[in-house]
Amino acid sequence: MKNKGLRVLSVAVILCVTAFLTYYSNVIVWNSVSVSDMDEDSLTVGSVRKLLEEGELITERFHSNSRLKRLPQSIIIGARKCGTRALLEFLGLHPWIQPADQEVHFFDDDRNYNRGYEWYKDHMPYTYPEQITLEKSPRYFITEKAPERIYRMNSSIKLIVLLRNPTTRVISDYTQVYYNKLAKGKDTDKFEDLVIDKKTNAVNTGFRAVQISVYYHHLLRWLKFFKREQIHVVDGDRLITDPLNEINKVEQFLGLPTKVTEKNIYFNVTRGFYCMRTQKVEQKCLGLTKGRKHPYIEQSVLQKLNDFFRPHNKKLFSLIDQRFDWD
Ligand code: A3P
Repeated sequence: MKNKGLRVLSVAVILCVTAFLTYYSNVIVWNSVSVSDMDEDSLTVGSVRKLLEEGELITERFHSNSRLKRLPQSIIIGARKCGTRALLEFLGLHPWIQPADQEVHFFDDDRNYNRGYEWYKDHMPYTYPEQITLEKSPRYFITEKAPERIYRMNSSIKLIVLLRNPTTRVISDYTQVYYNKLAKGKDTDKFEDLVIDKKTNAVNTGFRAVQISVYYHHLLRWLKFFKREQIHVVDGDRLITDPLNEINKVEQFLGLPTKVTEKNIYFNVTRGFYCMRTQKVEQKCLGLTKGRKHPYIEQSVLQKLNDFFRPHNKKLFSLIDQRFDWD
C-alpha cells in the first residue's frame, strides 16, 4: 500500500517536471527571436481572434476537430508601416483565417531560418484543416533572400503586400523610430536632416526609410519567383479610410467567402481609426503605437520626396498593373 502511494507520487512529480520543462522550453524558443530583430508590434500579443475563438469557430462547424500547427498558406510580407498589423487583425476576424500572434522573422533572419521548418511551424497557431494559417513579418519584403526561401517552402503560396503613399510611409517610419529613440533616452534627428543629403540638397537615397519606399525595386525581386496572381497588393491608404473594401478583396484572393462585415468593423471617433467588434468583444482598437501623429514637414521637403518617388512609382504601376493615387 505504502509502495503504491510512493509510485503514484513519483508519477505525479515526473508529470509536473515534464509540464514545467515543456513550458520553459517554449519560453526559451520565443525569447530566442531577439527583440531587437523584431518590428515594433511583434510584441503585440492576443488578437481579437483569440477572444473569438471557441464560440464562433464551433458555429462554423468545421468538418474535423483535429487542430494542428501548419506552415502558413499565406504570408503578409510587408511593407513596414503600411498597415500590416491592422490587416492581420482584421483578417483574424474571419473564422477561416488563423493568424500567428507574433512576427516570426523566419525568412529574414539566418539564425531562425537555419532552425528549419519544424521550428517555424512550432510558432504557428493551431488550425483546423479548413483554416488558413497566416503569418506577417514586414521585413520579408526588403530581405534579399526571402522570396527564394519562401518559394522553396511553398511555390504556390499566396502573398499579401501592403503599399502606401511612399512619402507618407517614410514619415511614418521616421515617427516610429523617433518615438523608440525617445523612449530609450537616445538622441533624435530632425526628419529633414535624415531625408535630405546636405551636400547635394537632394533626397538621401542612403536613408533606409527612403529605400524601403522604392517599392518597385523590392517587388521586382518577388516577381522573379512568384506569378503576379500569387501576390495581392493592398492599398494601405484605403485600408485606413475604407478597410472593409480592402479586407473583402483579400478574402476573395484567399478564396474565402465574405465573412468580415460592417458588423465587425466600425469607425471609432475617439481613436480616429477603424476598430473591431464581435459578439463577445465590444471594441478592440490597435495599440497607440499605431496611428501616431506625424510631425509637421516643410512643403519643399515633401515636394522633393514626391518628385523622387514619382518615376519609381510609375515603374511600379506598370510592373504590377495596378495604380495608386499617390501624387
Ligand atoms: P501611422 O502610425 O504612421 O499612422 P504597420 O502595422 O505596418 O506598422 O502600420 C502602421 C500603420 O497602420 C499606421 O501608421 C496607421 O496609419 C495604419 N493603420 C491602418 N489601419 C489602422 C487602424 N485601424 N488602426 C490604427 N492604425 C492603422
